[in-house]
Amino acid sequence: MNSPTLQGLNLRAPDYVKNPRLLAWVADMAALCKPAAIHWCDGSDEEYRRLCQVLVDAGVFVKLNQAKRPDSFLACSDPSDVARVEDRTYICSEKKENAGPTNNWMAPAEMRALLQTGQADGKPALFDGCMKGRTMYVVPFSMGPLGSHISHIGVELSDSAYVAVNMKIMTRMGRAVYDVMGEKGSFVPCVHTVGAPLQAGQADVKWPCNKTKYIVHYPETQEIWSYGSGYGGNALLGKKCFALRIASNMGRDQGWLAEHMLILGVTNPAGKKYHIAAAFPSACGKTNFSMLVPPEGFPGWKVTTIGDDIAWIKPHADGRLYAINPEAGYFGVAPGTNSHTNPNCMASLNRDVIFTNVALTDDGDVWWEGLSEAPAHCIDWQGKDWTPAIAAANAVDGKPKPAAHPNSRFTVAATNNPVLDRDWDNANGVAIDAFIFGGRRSTTVPLVTQARNWMEGVYMAATMGSETTAAMVGAQGVVRRDPFAMLPFCGYNMADYFQHWLDMEHKLESLGHTLPKIFCVNWFRKGADGKFVWPGYGENMRALKWMIDCIEGQAKGEDNLFGISPTYEEINWSGLDFTREQFDTVSHMDPAAWQHELALHGELFQQLAHHLPTELTDTRERMLKRLAG
Ligand code: GTP
Ligand code: SPV
Ligand code: MN
Repeated sequence: MNSPTLQGLNLRAPDYVKNPRLLAWVADMAALCKPAAIHWCDGSDEEYRRLCQVLVDAGVFVKLNQAKRPDSFLACSDPSDVARVEDRTYICSEKKENAGPTNNWMAPAEMRALLQTGQADGKPALFDGCMKGRTMYVVPFSMGPLGSHISHIGVELSDSAYVAVNMKIMTRMGRAVYDVMGEKGSFVPCVHTVGAPLQAGQADVKWPCNKTKYIVHYPETQEIWSYGSGYGGNALLGKKCFALRIASNMGRDQGWLAEHMLILGVTNPAGKKYHIAAAFPSACGKTNFSMLVPPEGFPGWKVTTIGDDIAWIKPHADGRLYAINPEAGYFGVAPGTNSHTNPNCMASLNRDVIFTNVALTDDGDVWWEGLSEAPAHCIDWQGKDWTPAIAAANAVDGKPKPAAHPNSRFTVAATNNPVLDRDWDNANGVAIDAFIFGGRRSTTVPLVTQARNWMEGVYMAATMGSETTAAMVGAQGVVRRDPFAMLPFCGYNMADYFQHWLDMEHKLESLGHTLPKIFCVNWFRKGADGKFVWPGYGENMRALKWMIDCIEGQAKGEDNLFGISPTYEEINWSGLDFTREQFDTVSHMDPAAWQHELALHGELFQQLAHHLPTELTDTRERMLKRLAG
């Protein structure tokens, strides 16, 4: 058979690729992006190893010491390409109103001219020839267990081998996806380019990217187009772009939820198991909480991981919400991770890991701030010599220059996790008993609070604030409203999203099962010395146990402005020296601070006024009245 070609480019797909829409789309995209070659990924281990070697040969990957960290690699990015770019992220719905005031918006036709078709003034489209001199990888992936009724398929075209190998770890990637897709099945098309075409004979740089960046979603046609970045959520399009921004649109239309949530199982000594889904903003503790090791004082308790970042949750005929983790790996924050804070995570990182932007030690291993005592010398994430003295001499605002970027990450398969839940790959998902929402707040928000009802829980989640982190480009430590930890990820109007959550109550009640309870937590209150008061990590089990006691009707708590919070006596303190005074520091609700907090809720509601459910503004009014006495 003759191979179809395009200006010398072989377009021939493997025989097992039989979907005409996919074949036509790949041909169209090849014609637009003009790659030098096409590589159809089969997802095999052999292919993974080969692509890792390609990356080593190109100088993108450093192979780590095989004895210390078998089959693991370090990639260091361009210093300008280190995190999600929220101000370059667009929801291009037909109507601006559907993107809502919290998303950047451009009309689809205008964006398509810019990216695909070329502009009126004759300027070429950004994707025109964007892959020149590079290989276009065709990466088929399933978000969720292959063939599950909750799962969805995507295909990412990318000119980055780094993306292809990361997608292999992060998703169910490869040949089996084509079997599920068949000849007629649908998929979400995702096009990604680093935006750095190579001219003939031009040498490549280590981490190609472009100053110009566009992370674009067309919700109506369910397409993703990403230009100019090779990093994380900007480039691994199954993750935030598909599993949250596009999937939240699917969920709204089809009656389910796509959430920025970890999912864990917690089993008590009697063997009773609960499933909890928890939403914390980026770099606020999801991965850590999902792998929690119960501390001293909790013999017989066990926590197991279903997911660490994203949950797809569907109502079932039995009246319960069932959740799956659409991902198959973890793209986790390195700094702060160590064998004390997260031993299960450390055990996951023993082998088969891709590290990005951490430091390289002299013995060919990795290091990051908070892992262990600083090495006497290492190579920092920018490839420069680093010693504690150099770090001190280059301090910014009194903080030593870090060896690892604050948003440095590891990519590792879920199957590396020693506490992976036996149901993590269950196509039916797990039934959720409770939702937890939590931000990073030095003040104001108490350690743990139970919402008195669903509506109050939605209010808590909707008005959540959090201090910004290194997970996105921009100022850090600034409190911003981050409703449901979804501010950067909700692919439609946030006010409509609140309504979607409120509607879930009636939908579930009509099915006749008790609703999941909703809680709000804050692990990050600080004392006068500027240090965290709550020990966090494994000790968060103490708050989790109180939440389970609430589910079982065994804890009553104390009623306050915000909901119901535990008394000191209701928490199991066995094995931890935490005084009543310390407890007060992390749970106290200061009326003046709450006056201010409610003003900030008001500002959010003003911003989202169009379509905002009146239940939320009514709740705020009630809280204001109660605060006024
Ligand atoms: P993303 O992957 O960006 O979504 O982050 P995440 O929500 O999974 O956060 P992760 O668990 O990776 O934690 C981010 C940072 O917060 C790390 O530096 C952790 O060490 C730190 N952290 C996590 N849990 C706690 C906690 O309970 N207390 C304190 N003080 N820090 C924590
Ligand atoms: C987050 O920022 O929430 C992450 C990392 O999980 S990224 O994949 O870059 O979105
Ligand atoms: Mn995340």
